[in-house]
Amino acid sequence: MDNRAIGVFDSGLGGLTAVKELKKLLPCEKIVFLGDTARLPYGIHDRETICKYAQDDIRFLLSKDVKIIIAACGTVSSNFPKEDAENLPVPFIDIISPTVEAAVRLSKNGTIGVLGTEATISSRAFEREIHRLAPDTTVVSKACPLFVPLVENGYGDPDDPFILHVAEEYLLGIREAGCDTVILGCTHYPHLSRVIQKILGPDVTLINSGMETASAASYLLHEKGLETSGTEGCVSYYVTENPENFNERASFFLGEEITQQLLKVDLV
Ligand code: DGL
Repeated sequence: MDNRAIGVFDSGLGGLTAVKELKKLLPCEKIVFLGDTARLPYGIHDRETICKYAQDDIRFLLSKDVKIIIAACGTVSSNFPKEDAENLPVPFIDIISPTVEAAVRLSKNGTIGVLGTEATISSRAFEREIHRLAPDTTVVSKACPLFVPLVENGYGDPDDPFILHVAEEYLLGIREAGCDTVILGCTHYPHLSRVIQKILGPDVTLINSGMETASAASYLLHEKGLETSGTEGCVSYYVTENPENFNERASFFLGEEITQQLLKVDLV
């Protein structure tokens, strides 16, 4: 048993898609969430900068005495070196293995699509992991740089012609290749699920990175005997900018009203 909190971080608020699932799966756990809103987006930066930002985020969560760290960010997950993750004093979970395992398990025709930020797609981390588990798979990857700003601004309505037009453009290759499973390799993208599903059709399986990563975390806590003995969970929210706008926007990501006060932190 371990009553310390679960630490979760993202470049912005997309990581709250993982928090939403964690709250459902592990309602008694304490969670500390950090959204580095001042430096969002990470996906336009090079690997060195992304890793520096990730180290700052991790240092902050460790200062909160967390028992496990979840990188609820596709961009960090695909660029942060495995050796650095292994050397942390607590277990580290990223979104790559959980989503790839689900995609490989669910794909019937062996053609998997991967959507992510520019830094995620150019790292080829998802592709490598898919081929490690299923070498014969055809992988079609597409960077979707406009998706994060659109989601952060509340877009996601599948009847909105503007977002549909942008998504059509990005998803053309995935649809033409006949992908039957598509990894939403960025934790912001589950908010575009209805848009993406509308374009790709109802038979395509979308892998929600927030959901798969939360269940991997739940499994790991159980396996390592790190579950809490507490009976009431709670979430502490930290952001690096704009705490005033946070509650409304975070409620959109979480799908529920946030009532508690959030705190602004400086990471550097
Ligand atoms: N949620 C981040 C990710 O999963 C957002 C991307 C960004 O910061 O550019 O990649």
